[in-house]
Order: sequence, then structure tokens, then C-alpha cells
Amino acid sequence: MDFHVMTLFPDMIMQGLSDSVIGRAVRKGTIGLHTVNIRDYSLDKHKHVDDYPYGGGAGMVMQPEPIYACYQDIVGKMDKKPRVIYMTPQGRVFSQEIAEELSKEESLIFLCGHYEGIDERVLDEIVTDHLSIGDYVLTGGELPAMVMIDTIARLVPGVLNNSESAEYDSFQDGLLEYPQYTRPEIWHDKQVPEVLLSGHHGNIEKWRRQQSLKRTFERRPELLEQEKVQEALTKKDRE
Ligand code: ADE
Repeated sequence: MDFHVMTLFPDMIMQGLSDSVIGRAVRKGTIGLHTVNIRDYSLDKHKHVDDYPYGGGAGMVMQPEPIYACYQDIVGKMDKKPRVIYMTPQGRVFSQEIAEELSKEESLIFLCGHYEGIDERVLDEIVTDHLSIGDYVLTGGELPAMVMIDTIARLVPGVLNNSESAEYDSFQDGLLEYPQYTRPEIWHDKQVPEVLLSGHHGNIEKWRRQQSLKRTFERRPELLEQEKVQEALTKKDRE
């Protein structure tokens, strides 16, 4: 899968995603990560990409031409036009479910805005998905793009190894993940739950399921109301 990022700060994206799991997947060639600097498509000699808003008001607005030229450069080499995701607090809130859907695409383009926003006409023409990472405002789309790329990329087959498997993640079944423990068996007078030392796989699984439900009920009760979770709850879970 290929990720293309249209941005004014390509180094931020590359540096932010070059270590750890995603960096390893890029080096292995399991995923491609490509940045394109919108400023390289500026129409003036000072490399401006923004201008004052029509109608007045605070801040600057990114102009349509450099963004469109940048987009054309990316899609010109492709057989099929990929989805274009615009990072904006006005978008649908990104979730594990959206990440799963997007992880099945062959390529994705992320458009990162800055200043007060982007001229609406170019958004109308190229953007397929407006996505937000939450109800707060960041200075630009780069951090949200990194959040989304990290979340989507780890769902692409071959990105995680067996021990990092996404199978038991929080949200994978709509519930929060159960607590984890490792050595030592006693730390600060706190004992690892007995059942985890028992070697009884049936009991361990049951305990983990109960812990997942308890944790979800205590920390994120609204998740239990989701249709996906309601359908997955077995008769035993309800007891
Ligand atoms: N750009 C600025 N704030 C944002 C947010 N919360 N989500 C996505 N993009 C943004």
C-alpha cells in the first residue's frame, strides 16, 4: 500500500514515521511513504502558496493552483485515482473502523492544510474524505496525517509481526483491551493475577474477556451501546 502526503512540511512526516514499526515496514517495502512539498508547485518567485481571504478576516488561505498541480503530479502516474483525505477538524471523526476500511485501499493521498484553511474550490474538486482526529484544533494537518497513517499502516498485512499482532487490539472487537502483565511476578507488593500463572488457557481467556468488559464499562461505557458490540456480546458475557 502506498501513502502519498501533500504537505508544506515533508520532513515532519518523514521524521515522524521513520522509526519503529512504520519505519521498518517502509524500509522492507511492505508500504510506501511518499511526501510531496506543495511549495514546489508555487506560481510565484517567492514560493508563496497562500493569499488573503476574499471577504476579509483573519489569517491566510492556501491557494488552489499549487495544490491542484501537486495533486496532478501524484495521480498522473496512476491507473486509478486514489481517495484523497483532507485533514480538518470539520471532518468525520477518524476511528478504528475507518482505519480498517482505508487499509484495504491500494493507495491513499493525504492533504495537509495550514493557515486558515484551503480554497474551497480545490477541496471540492479533489477531496473524497474530510477527516478529523478529534474535537480540537491543531496548527496543521501533518500530525493528524501521521496519526492516521500509523493507524492504517499497522493493519496492512506484513507490517506487524506475529508478536505485535493487531488481532487483540483495543477496538478490534469494539471493546477495550484487557490488562497485561510481565515479570516480575510481584512488584511493589502487587501480585500478577493468579489465573495468568495457571497455564489454563480456557480460564485465562474467560478472565481476559471479563476484564475487557469491565474496563470498557468503567472507562468508556458508551462503547457498549454500539451495534457491533451488542451483536458480539455472547449470552455468557451478559451474565
Ligand atoms: N487540522 C487541525 N485540527 C485538526 C483536527 N483536529 N483533525 C484533523 N485535522 C486538523
